[in-house]
Amino acid sequence: MFSKSLLAAVSAMMCFGAVSAQITGTATRGFSGTTTCGCPSSNGPFAISIPAGFFNARVCCQDTITVNYNGKSVQAILSGVYDAQAGTTNIELTDAPFSVLQDNASQQTISPVTWEFDQSPH
Ligand SMILES: *[C@@H]1O[C@H](CO)[C@@H](O)[C@H](O)[C@H]1NC(C)=O
Repeated sequence: MFSKSLLAAVSAMMCFGAVSAQITGTATRGFSGTTTCGCPSSNGPFAISIPAGFFNARVCCQDTITVNYNGKSVQAILSGVYDAQAGTTNIELTDAPFSVLQDNASQQTISPVTWEFDQSPH
């Protein structure tokens, strides 16, 4: 019994340690407001752009971000800068990842989404 509760406490701590900050915002379908990094096509269709303020110690075309919406989640490769207003936490997704998250194909934005980096800063 003792070891079981100890284990629970340890795994709870590990959980806190592993979870990186989740950011909440709105995701828009398509890269209409994005300056791309020019990633190779071999990166595939799952791409995301984020505001410039979040680029610190991140590698474009390499780092990945997981986006969650309405109980669904998808991973996309950091591929550009979303040129939104200062202080925004909003993102843009290409059609492939957006389609995974959407409720239906008529949506052009979904909110709220949460997003987080899958890697630690470099
Ligand atoms: C698509 O989903 C949105 C958000 O859930 C909803 O408001 C809208 O009515 C839906 N449209 C269709 C055509 O189902």
